[in-house]
Amino acid sequence: MPANLIKRDGITALAAGAAGLDQPEGNPRLKQVVNRLLIDLMVAIDELDISMDEFWTGVAYLTQAGKQDEFGLIVPGVVLEHFLDLRLDEAERRAGLAGGTARTIEGPLYIAGAPLLKGETRLDDGTDNGEVLFMEGQVRDVAGNPIAGAVVDVWHANSMGNYSHFDPTQAAYNLRRRIETDEEGRYRFRSIMPSGYACPPGSQSEKLLQAMGRHGNRPAHVHFFVTAPGYRKLTTQINIPGDKYLHDDFAFGTRDELIPHVERVTDAREIQKAGLNKPFARIRFDFALTKQVAGAPTTVVAREHAEAA
Ligand code: DHB
Ligand code: FE
Repeated sequence: MPANLIKRDGITALAAGAAGLDQPEGNPRLKQVVNRLLIDLMVAIDELDISMDEFWTGVAYLTQAGKQDEFGLIVPGVVLEHFLDLRLDEAERRAGLAGGTARTIEGPLYIAGAPLLKGETRLDDGTDNGEVLFMEGQVRDVAGNPIAGAVVDVWHANSMGNYSHFDPTQAAYNLRRRIETDEEGRYRFRSIMPSGYACPPGSQSEKLLQAMGRHGNRPAHVHFFVTAPGYRKLTTQINIPGDKYLHDDFAFGTRDELIPHVERVTDAREIQKAGLNKPFARIRFDFALTKQVAGAPTTVVAREHAEAA
């Protein structure tokens, strides 16, 4: 078929009716958004001459993605979650908010309700023989003052790149904890070095990426929510340097400010002091939170999160 068969006016009229713009009832914001997305979609179909086969292939793809609970994976893979971050960054810049630790995507693998501990804890249950990792630092305000009683909610993959809850072989909340900072704003944890995550083989996400000539790998990373009363919630990650995918993340989450130095500790006394008998890795990373200000766009995102049973 040729492209551009339908006049713009025709498309606009169809979208207005379909979105209920001529009806007094309904949610005005929802109607506005549906209307706009329908116009953009119909214009794309007409301009690109999207065939019926192509269209229904797309519908079947999305149906299957829903059945497999994969929209949370597809969204970062097609850059949309990072795009939302870029919008929030710019809104904050315009609101005069500066100096906080850079944000990056949450991803789809957070589980609410991890055990809450004070000051320091261990994230792994001892069953993973990966490299031991100690990570520590301070939560501060943008002027450098420590924030006591902040909560560092941390989650990461195991040495196979898998997350507890989604990987049924791991114990509930393995590699997931909430750590409340001490009087000096400090947090510290022992864990194991994560490996990069890959989109599950055979998943809808992987199929789409493959069809676009892309891979579905993330560099090794550790996720954080950092919260404290009176401060804006921070959603971020650190990336492990040296990873093959460090600057080739399928989810577009890497930011230069979020790549800390990883110290490899080989000194026998240090190893002994850490209660270990082999070298380990150490990361020092501080988080800076900006103050809550009236009228600034919120960083608290309403998003469905499972809790581990
Ligand atoms: C995905 C997985 C992650 O571990 C992550 O941090 C972000 C995205 C994903 O599968 O899309
Ligand atoms: Fe992740």
